[in-house]
Amino acid sequence: MQHNVLILDFGSQYTQLIARRVRELNIFCEIFPYNNIPSDLSSYKAVILSGSPFSVRGEDAPHPDLSQIRGKMPLLAVCYGAQYLAHFSGGEVAPSNIREYGRANLSYIKEEELFFDDVNINSQVWMSHSDTIKQLPTGGVRLASTKDVENAAYRIEGETTYAIQFHPEVYHSEDGKQMLENFLVKIAEVPQNFTPKSFVEEIVAEMKEKIQDEKVVLGLSGGVDSTVAAVLLNKAIGKNLYCIFVNNGLLRKNEFENVLNQYKHMGLNVKGVDASARFLSELAGVDDPETKRKIIGRVFIEVFDDEAHHIEDVKFLAQGTIYPDVIESVSVKGPSATIKSHHNVGGLPDFMKLQIVEPLRMLFKDEVRRVGKTLGIDDELLGRHPFPGPGLSIRILGDITPEKVRILQEVDHIFINGLKEHGLYDKVWQAGAILLPVNSVGVMGDERTYEKVVALRAVESTDGMTADWVHLPYDFMMKISNEIINKVKGVNRVVYDISSKPPATIEWE
Ligand code: XMP
Repeated sequence: MQHNVLILDFGSQYTQLIARRVRELNIFCEIFPYNNIPSDLSSYKAVILSGSPFSVRGEDAPHPDLSQIRGKMPLLAVCYGAQYLAHFSGGEVAPSNIREYGRANLSYIKEEELFFDDVNINSQVWMSHSDTIKQLPTGGVRLASTKDVENAAYRIEGETTYAIQFHPEVYHSEDGKQMLENFLVKIAEVPQNFTPKSFVEEIVAEMKEKIQDEKVVLGLSGGVDSTVAAVLLNKAIGKNLYCIFVNNGLLRKNEFENVLNQYKHMGLNVKGVDASARFLSELAGVDDPETKRKIIGRVFIEVFDDEAHHIEDVKFLAQGTIYPDVIESVSVKGPSATIKSHHNVGGLPDFMKLQIVEPLRMLFKDEVRRVGKTLGIDDELLGRHPFPGPGLSIRILGDITPEKVRILQEVDHIFINGLKEHGLYDKVWQAGAILLPVNSVGVMGDERTYEKVVALRAVESTDGMTADWVHLPYDFMMKISNEIINKVKGVNRVVYDISSKPPATIEWE
């Protein structure tokens, strides 16, 4: 993969946003933690230093050696980065008298500076720091100020080093993207050639080179990431890609058959494995959510391992890992401590000892979708809501029986189809139904009923970390509720979940 821009992460909550803004300019970039700077920088055309929760004056503050970077290539220092440069190069950084947080406006912009090309005076920027630069470093030239922050931006004379105390990457900095473009394109002259099409060409060539004539096994889930990974690998190595799609009996109604057919139509070498009975029998009588997850994880690994053994001489395991997972595992805070518990039991299964290939490891989720579109994958598949790995098991509160799965599949099907038919599906980030472990009294005809209650949940979100319930139209809810109660035997009451996350979660278990 081409290396264009290096982002050094000092632990800011906004570092990923910087990367996303850079990618939006069709420029490829990578994030590295400040304490793991690549030794070979020759392929990078510019470096960006991120913000940080630390104060440069703090004892544990990151103090990386930038001697191979500063003055040798274009450098943009954001917030902490700007203070770090000032503090160690003859400037002065001190606690600010006033809290410099939130919206501010540029009250001064130095004229004829490429960095501020097409940025107007009064442009809104987003500040988020408690220290401030009182005095610029040696060679510093002030480029911009706000009412409260005199040294909002500076450059260093004789270098292509720029520094800003505000955050250009956040939405509230209205010309932030323009400034990043000015720095990267006009000043650093980085090529804007990172497009879905160029990505596909490069990664296919890279995968061909890496895999040669060997065999690769990949688990398909019906989700966007594994599907796009499979189509890319199929393009690179064709029939040497062996896909396995496991039915755990907890998928949506008809999903196993429908998605398997779709995969076959895409020309993938895919084997569908119906292990529903095995999953459901192992889950029988279990009502604890975490135990359910562990059982499903373990059985999946066993089933997948059995299948992988049927493929002779397989060398690689492909995974649909995407960039946020990669960043998480090498983050400033150290590798993620959450190794899944079932991976520790009884050693690794054989397929997990294979060499790993991860064609999407450099992409954000929206980039995966765009690559999928370039590859001609159906919009419907690319636009699918997220669906949890343990499937309907965590939407059936309490223990799981085949009958409960059937009821929930029917309810979910009516809800999801209804959303699609009413043009609401794409307005919702995730939707589904939950089967509650209570019966309620109802009346149908002349008879009293005593049947199950289901809850419907539809949320809007960007990443699932926070979420809000969607204000679905009352007419729609009325129709769906009637349809569910009329058509799904065993259900006599429908409720709608109006809790946000936090404090609630999206799933009920
Ligand atoms: P919560 O319920 O934590 O869900 O607000 C956030 C997102 O994560 C999904 N989710 C899971 N996905 N395995 C998964 O693969 C799980 O065990 C799991 N639990 C929750 C959930 O559907 C939502 O998108």
